[in-house]
Amino acid sequence: MDRNDSQHIDYEGFSFDAFDEARRPEPEVTGFDKVVEAALSRRGFLGVLAYGSGAAAMGLGTGLGSLMSSVSAEAATSRFAFKPIPIATDFTIHVPEGYTWQVLARWGDPLFSDAAEFDHQTGGDAATSNRVFGENTDGMELFVIGDRQVIAVNHEYVNPKLNLPKNEDGRPASAGDVRKLQNLQGVTVMEVAEDGNGWKVVVDSPFNRRIDHNTEMRLSGPAAGHDMLKTAADPTGTSSLGTFNNCGSGKTPWGTYLTCEENFNGYFGSTDEAVALPEDFKRYGIDAKSVYSYEKFDERFDLSKHPNEPYRAGYIVEIDPADPTSTPVKRTALGRFKHENAATALARDGRVVVYLGDDERGEFLYKFVSAGIYTPGGDTSTLLDEGTLHVARFDEDGSGEWVALTPEATGMTAAEIAILTRVAASKVGATTMDRPEWVAVNPVSIEAYCALTNNSRRGVKPNAGGDETPVGGPNPRAENKYGQIVRWYPAEDDHAATGFTWDLFVMAGNPTVHEDAYAGSENVNEGNMFNSPDGMMFDTTGLLWIQTDGDDDNEGDFAGQGNNQMLAGDPATGRIERFLTGPNGSEVTGLTWSADRRTMFVGIQHPKAPFPDGDGTLGRSSVIAVKRDDNLPIG
Ligand code: FEO
Ligand code: CA
Ligand code: CA
Repeated sequence: MDRNDSQHIDYEGFSFDAFDEARRPEPEVTGFDKVVEAALSRRGFLGVLAYGSGAAAMGLGTGLGSLMSSVSAEAATSRFAFKPIPIATDFTIHVPEGYTWQVLARWGDPLFSDAAEFDHQTGGDAATSNRVFGENTDGMELFVIGDRQVIAVNHEYVNPKLNLPKNEDGRPASAGDVRKLQNLQGVTVMEVAEDGNGWKVVVDSPFNRRIDHNTEMRLSGPAAGHDMLKTAADPTGTSSLGTFNNCGSGKTPWGTYLTCEENFNGYFGSTDEAVALPEDFKRYGIDAKSVYSYEKFDERFDLSKHPNEPYRAGYIVEIDPADPTSTPVKRTALGRFKHENAATALARDGRVVVYLGDDERGEFLYKFVSAGIYTPGGDTSTLLDEGTLHVARFDEDGSGEWVALTPEATGMTAAEIAILTRVAASKVGATTMDRPEWVAVNPVSIEAYCALTNNSRRGVKPNAGGDETPVGGPNPRAENKYGQIVRWYPAEDDHAATGFTWDLFVMAGNPTVHEDAYAGSENVNEGNMFNSPDGMMFDTTGLLWIQTDGDDDNEGDFAGQGNNQMLAGDPATGRIERFLTGPNGSEVTGLTWSADRRTMFVGIQHPKAPFPDGDGTLGRSSVIAVKRDDNLPIG
């Protein structure tokens, strides 16, 4: 299919980023220096790979030596407590020998006893669609509240052909259909418990809660009350309804959940296709054509009537999982863009640092540093409202800088920086990245990692703001099919520092198909290869868990890579091994652990039938629980 032909979009068949790409056919960069690509041999990339000795090992010679010696030394003392598994191409889940998995919660499973059991004929009961586990599970975090364990988990988007199976075109045909789709997205908060039969959701727990596209939210931080956030229904600009396209997650040191609004642009459309829209909508991919046609039945999403509504989405939202009556808060100080996740750390002086990726081709990597200090038991209510947002500039020499987005640096007010963050970042020379997905902060070493999932336009097209996407630095391949993971070491071992050094932890690739840079880095081999790293979290021991959302057709450039998967990486050695494979058609995304770390909860998004219920059923996105047969901690 010609992805630049918006007349031929099968919107259910498109990912959100492909949908945006199709609607915004920008001119190709002319005269781009593709010679750079040819000059970059696989060996050459070892110049930005350095294991074991941090940034000091920069440079081709030292990088290579460090890698080779550490890999051989590591062979005798593997950190992995599992035997790596091969790829799979089937429709179920595989884990290593000595481990088992079970389904914890599926789309449509009741959270409350007044909800109807799931019906494969109807795609679930509409009337109780906000009383069940939602669609397309994504980021999640487990909270220990007293002696209870509570998981907060995102529901990123919907698959209308599954959710409304009686609608032949897969589109909502009534306000009721729209409401059902809205109810199935957002966030679930649910208590979970383990007994002799494994893990289950505690139906009717007082902690259980659904937050959806109509839940009241408070807007806080520098953008709250700004004219751009005011609507007919909310003339104060401080109160909005719903959280949208909840992708990755985060957890604050004070025990709240952060849910991240990613492709919010696709929910807004116009009943008047000729409507004149604000110029800044283009940077965010907001236009008259929506993904789900909400605007036909729910006026709030109609840009011809309520053009300010999209300024009220695209934020990090803080939710208190311990208080089901609390109002979620949109923290505008953390910027408005296509938020992937929110990885928190504490600076040496106790300020709160939040790393934030903007998942779109050629967009940026951000960091928020609070003005206030976190003290256990202290007031945390405004810690994420006051502070400074920074954007990353990666330099070719392996150093980099977090550039503060201040009014002085950008010529914009604090409120404008919070609302039009991409525009602000473009003004300070930030580095355009290969789609920043999850950031993970190592709990045992002062370093952080970001999955740069892929970028079919690297070196081909600028971003929507016109910033070019040169090949080089942490984005070293043109038309990057496989992705890479960049890692940085904050200066002075302080996450609040503005300086850092960086290297690449891994460049994914396929060494059975390519011999050049597209073979991947030396720690990628026929036995562990993968494409499109996306979800990523550290466990408490400092092992990096990597989830993929890539091409799973197992052909051509992706031959031998099988279904999407989860791998574990050792930061010290660079060694990466495959731990889990998902069902064909699914993405593996979202990861958290039980309080005792003996169970790992993993998200399986958009699986095809027959997963998990068998032939003749609908595919149901699910959270699974993985355990060791000997019940020891995982990792
Ligand atoms: Fe929702 Fe960028 O993944
Ligand atoms: Ca993702
Ligand atoms: Ca992805």
